[in-house]
Amino acid sequence: IEIGTLIYQGKAKGVYETDDPQKVVVEFRDDITAGDGAKKDNLSEKGFWNSIISAKFFELLEEAGIQTQYIELIKPGLMLSKKLEMIPLEVITRNIAAGSLLRRYPFEAKQTFEPPIIQIDYKSDEYGDPMLNDEIAVALGLIDEYRLKIIKETTLRINKVLKDFLESKGILFPDFKIEFGYDADGSIVLGDEISPDTCRFWDMETCDTLDKDLFRQGESGVIDAYKKVASMILDDEDKE
Ligand code: C5P
Repeated sequence: IEIGTLIYQGKAKGVYETDDPQKVVVEFRDDITAGDGAKKDNLSEKGFWNSIISAKFFELLEEAGIQTQYIELIKPGLMLSKKLEMIPLEVITRNIAAGSLLRRYPFEAKQTFEPPIIQIDYKSDEYGDPMLNDEIAVALGLIDEYRLKIIKETTLRINKVLKDFLESKGILFPDFKIEFGYDADGSIVLGDEISPDTCRFWDMETCDTLDKDLFRQGESGVIDAYKKVASMILDDEDKE
């Protein structure tokens, strides 16, 4: 496959055209940001590990019958993907209370949610990613009721697959953010990434944080934590 021009540049990823109009290459960069870009750094190997971790999760989800953008890792850092028209929604799922939820509402830290909470934010740097409700999302023309329902149902299935898998590997899964898009047929397909940049992962035994919260809190060992996630979730055959 031929990699063409850059068609989208995000804070941590880039998307390139290819010679196939229905495929793109997603580049996972080493750039890391927090607080809407207020905190920035470049951490060597972050793109490498995030692409490998995302690929593993996309493979698991495909096996469970959930459509994702993933085609293959060309090499670590470069993911051949289905071209999607992205929907500007950040779909957050919460199994355990953490992060902004505790700053905004009187939940107890580490309180569990069964069923999980789904929170949908508007992906907009200009407006600071405000939380939506269904009526606001529909009124803004971002989505319709029917597709919102599909997104919520699919998100709950994704949560179940990932949470069960992660717990079997000794990792708690407090929350995560995903994004969806439309493929050429208009089907809703999981896009973006699922990585320590976009999830909270807690080591079940040590209670260690193994995600971007380390960076948000200005702690060291960010890449070591990402590597630890990879080593805990990958089989020996994946590691080759
Ligand atoms: O910040 P908050 O606690 O609401 O984040 C919930 C989850 O969504 C976390 O796993 C976080 O990494 C993820 N998230 C994200 N991108 C955002 C906001 C949240 O990946 N813009």
